Amino acid sequence: IRYGEETVARGAGGETHQIARDGRTSLTTQQGIPVSDDQNTLRAGERGPDLLEDFHFREKVFHFDHERIPERVVHARGFGAHGFFEAYEPLSDLTRADLFQRAGQRTEAFVRFSTVAGSKGSFDLARDVRGFAVKLYTREGNWDLVGNNIPVFFIQDAIKFPDVIHAAKPEPDRGFPQAQTAHDNFWDFASLMPESTHMLMWIMSDRAIPRSFRFMEGFGVHTFRFVNAQGRSTFVKFHWKPKQGMQSVVWNEAVKINGADPDFHRRDLWDAITQGAYPEWELGLQLFDDDFADRFAFDVLDPTKIIPEEELPVRRVGRLVLDRVVDNFFAETEQVAFCTQNVVPGIDFTNDPLLQGRNFSYLDTQLKRLGSPNFTRLPVNAPRCPVAHFQQDGHMATMNPSSRANYEPNSWSPEEGGPREDPVRGFTTYPSTDSGPKRRLRPESFADHYSQARQFYLSQAPVERRHIVDAFTFELSKCERPDIRARMVAGLRNVDDDLARTVADGLGLPALPDPLPPAREPVRDLAPSPALSIIAN
Ligand code: HEM
Repeated sequence: IRYGEETVARGAGGETHQIARDGRTSLTTQQGIPVSDDQNTLRAGERGPDLLEDFHFREKVFHFDHERIPERVVHARGFGAHGFFEAYEPLSDLTRADLFQRAGQRTEAFVRFSTVAGSKGSFDLARDVRGFAVKLYTREGNWDLVGNNIPVFFIQDAIKFPDVIHAAKPEPDRGFPQAQTAHDNFWDFASLMPESTHMLMWIMSDRAIPRSFRFMEGFGVHTFRFVNAQGRSTFVKFHWKPKQGMQSVVWNEAVKINGADPDFHRRDLWDAITQGAYPEWELGLQLFDDDFADRFAFDVLDPTKIIPEEELPVRRVGRLVLDRVVDNFFAETEQVAFCTQNVVPGIDFTNDPLLQGRNFSYLDTQLKRLGSPNFTRLPVNAPRCPVAHFQQDGHMATMNPSSRANYEPNSWSPEEGGPREDPVRGFTTYPSTDSGPKRRLRPESFADHYSQARQFYLSQAPVERRHIVDAFTFELSKCERPDIRARMVAGLRNVDDDLARTVADGLGLPALPDPLPPAREPVRDLAPSPALSIIAN
């Protein structure tokens, strides 16, 4: 394009560049004004003061000053990649969710892996839970499966989330330790919360120091619902099974890797994808009905419990492939916003109190983190299907309703009146019957905190058990208060006496403390589950 003497080039995406004399893109200000000198500020005289008039300098520094946004309050350190989900078979008997209707159907996906406790600049090989958040851009809106690499959680009720995170993050007075469980506050809280025992077993196991993101499982944790076109509901638990298998490092290796290359996990994913070794996971489902839920030894709404795969096999229904790295880390990995409340028609929540609390928390924090209610306009967050609503304005409103009407009902013509509700395709909530007095009591069915912790421990191969014992001993040895160490060992006595004794010996406790009162007697003896051991897998 010729503008007088100047040439403007059009790029592949239709964008235009001003071209300097040597054929390269001209450097411009944000206002598009070509810049002649980016090395020197505008000054009065040879050595004189800078001039306020220098709009290029002021704009450049102003923008730099505002580059940072708050890091995520949890899962701050993460790494994302693009890919797709491919369904193996239609699941229309179970769900009307569009991505599960046709064999071979592909749905675009974005995945972000993360650690939980460390800050954005922490190291990758921390002993920690790994986030496994998947955004699926379906033809009926975005479905976010915001999971972890461990199938249970520390707490049963979202009201305890700020506490567990405060206890795990650096201590408020001294600001350390960073990304480690080795401190008094964490063990103080954990030992006072027996419901965290099952999760602690996983955290102290090899699962918490994966070899790379590619070699770990993912879990939706909560029980969700599938709802089919006839309105029939089936409970579902989601699993991601790595086709690469599962691998972990040992603590000794983790410490060395952290020192030598704190970016080890993100580099591994980047290298694998850029070299064409696309990592894959299969989506697995545990499907069950009300009868199974009633018969099951634990409450299916309790997020500190699993449903053993031996009892309810995992059905593999599709694969997730990561085949493209991001173009820009900040634009995509930092600005992506996952939220448990993003479900599509055919998928619904249950009354798991942790899930219900999460549904509030994510959107709330993202408004703070991304600074505008319009963050769904960011390309990484934008649905790939058409979007039409009457929400408008706010910071960075780039797509206000274009029709005459910005409310409904309205009596304008279809062209001027904008979108209408869609009772046929629209999301409908599963009409479960929930009633009872308002109360804050934990249900009795959530009370057994030890049986599955024991089942997990006993399911581990001898070397994996040794690692668990070593991890408890090492991490608790960093806890300076003897009473906290003793209380934790007292809790472990309800899991396995040998485990408790070995940890107590390792810590040099003067005497083995009495077990903590068991919250409730185990429901029944549970067989160790081979599926829980990495080695058995
Ligand atoms: C972030 C998983 C419990 C609040 C995340 C992320 C994951 C995750 C994977 C990172 C998302 C990303 O990569 O951007 C889980 C799992 C939980 C759980 C599996 C339990 C089963 C909770 C609870 C709360 C909570 C109970 C609050 C009540 C948050 C917040 C963020 C977050 C505020 C930051 C979100 C952002 O800034 O975008 N969680 N979480 N989480 N989670 Fe959770």
